[in-house]
Amino acid sequence: MAMEEKIAALQAQAAEAIKNAATTLSELDDIRVQFLGKKGEFTSILRGMGAVAKEDRPKIGKIVNEAKAQVEALIASKNEELKARALEQRLAEEKIDVTLPGRRQPLGHLHPLTLTLERSKDIFFRMGFSVEEGPEIEKDYFNFEALNLPKDHPARDMQDSFYITEDILMRSQTSPVQARTMQKNDPNTPIRMIAPGRVYRRDEYDATHSPMFTQVEGLVIDKGVSLGDLKGTLELFLHQIFNENVGVRFRPSFFPFTEPSAEVDISCVMCHGKGCKVCKGTGWLEILGAGMVHPHVLEMSGYDPHEVSGFAFGMGVERIAMLSYGVDDLRLFYDNDQRFLSQF
Ligand code: DAH
Repeated sequence: MAMEEKIAALQAQAAEAIKNAATTLSELDDIRVQFLGKKGEFTSILRGMGAVAKEDRPKIGKIVNEAKAQVEALIASKNEELKARALEQRLAEEKIDVTLPGRRQPLGHLHPLTLTLERSKDIFFRMGFSVEEGPEIEKDYFNFEALNLPKDHPARDMQDSFYITEDILMRSQTSPVQARTMQKNDPNTPIRMIAPGRVYRRDEYDATHSPMFTQVEGLVIDKGVSLGDLKGTLELFLHQIFNENVGVRFRPSFFPFTEPSAEVDISCVMCHGKGCKVCKGTGWLEILGAGMVHPHVLEMSGYDPHEVSGFAFGMGVERIAMLSYGVDDLRLFYDNDQRFLSQF
């Protein structure tokens, strides 16, 4: 075949490949290498120029260069075309439908027990109480002895406890924070504190009991503190945490660390005092324990019962949460079931 024909055929072959075979930029580049690369087909033609008659060389050289230039031009325009097509495709793929509803980020919220605790704390803060804390692994001395419950006192039985050693236990009540606060305090400064926290007892795990639960302890010590102050404080708290119309009743009771002691009831939140299953027909629900701090307890922690007096109270946060939210099984608070928790 004459050289000119060979070149024309090669050019046609390249044009055909560029037109039909190149569907992506990388395929197009393969074609460029195949025809125009260092080891490409046009290069090998140029290398074969030696066999061409001397006088024909300029002419053939010109034809090859023109053919190459045309192939290059075809590649350049195909390159533009493929680039534009790729961009179009990307735009189509990445199209945002602005009419779609936004994706909601589910927002967490506080646990119902935390909410109840926070609400309780707020009410006491408004009355000038501060928060004190104590360890959950407690000395027998603070948990019992300093609260007028010497070893072998029968009232210890009511709080069947988890002991770690003879003298150390998981605290069975938040009352030890009373003794801790009194002992770290200067006996001439008044105390008005609450102590929220977890407590542990060897209890069943059922709808109304758990071996771990939450209490809020309260203690006020000052000159001339009376039972009237205790009543007023607790009534105000109960009216705010439940509602203004809830009835509040003090019943005589016994705690070793208070004298006199009282069990405090509220009118049943379900039947409003008429009598129902929840209040077992009595119209009242027991809600907390309280009393005037026993003179011996004051004395043991360095306060002079002839100079000052005080009141104390202790309540269960789970119980308050159950009654204010109408939850009938305490275990729901610990199950971590979203279907329950998302309702608060
Ligand atoms: N600590 C008691 C209990 O867990 C509750 C209690 C009753 C606390 C009377 C007090 C109080 O401070 O004065 O059963």
